[in-house]
Amino acid sequence: MTGNNLYELLYTSTAKEGFEESELADILQFAKINNYKYQISGMLIYYSHSFVQILEGDKQEVIELFQKISKDPRHHDIEVFYQGGISERSFANWSMAGKILNEDELKVHLTEIEPLDQNHLSSHILNSVPSVGKNLFLHLKQEITS
Ligand SMILES: Cc1cc2nc3c(=O)[nH]c(=O)nc-3n(C[C@H](O)[C@H](O)[C@H](O)COP(=O)(O)O)c2cc1C
Repeated sequence: MTGNNLYELLYTSTAKEGFEESELADILQFAKINNYKYQISGMLIYYSHSFVQILEGDKQEVIELFQKISKDPRHHDIEVFYQGGISERSFANWSMAGKILNEDELKVHLTEIEPLDQNHLSSHILNSVPSVGKNLFLHLKQEITS
């Protein structure tokens, strides 16, 4: 899966009231098949009622998919914290990898990524420091493949 107009988009959102982990399985099952069709790859993390997702692929396909995802009633408060061109994919082998983390696990990963002041360590860091958000995906990718 290569291309010369590769693009990535990373966002966070909040799951709708009453969202259950079984619904995440439905989303991932659909995403894996659909993304493969459009040569989109990426990862979706679910933690304490929030999502963080990276989408990568042809720019137009990524933007079109994201517009569809943005209208999905299963989440709200969608915030793009980074988008831009890339020279290669980070998740070429996954049409959509999925990972569930609890708040403590998220904090452990974030601490491993950046030696942050514990008092300021919160999931908001993903939105405010884009590199931390991207590194979280890369960090989890290593964990999945090792
Ligand atoms: C957090 C979240 C992430 C999603 N990720 C994807 C995805 O990567 N690919 C995908 O095809 N649909 C994804 N969906 C589902 C889409 O929002 C949408 O339901 C699906 O693309 C079907 O749309 P359609 O019925 O208009 O074709 C996601 C939904 C949510 C709530």
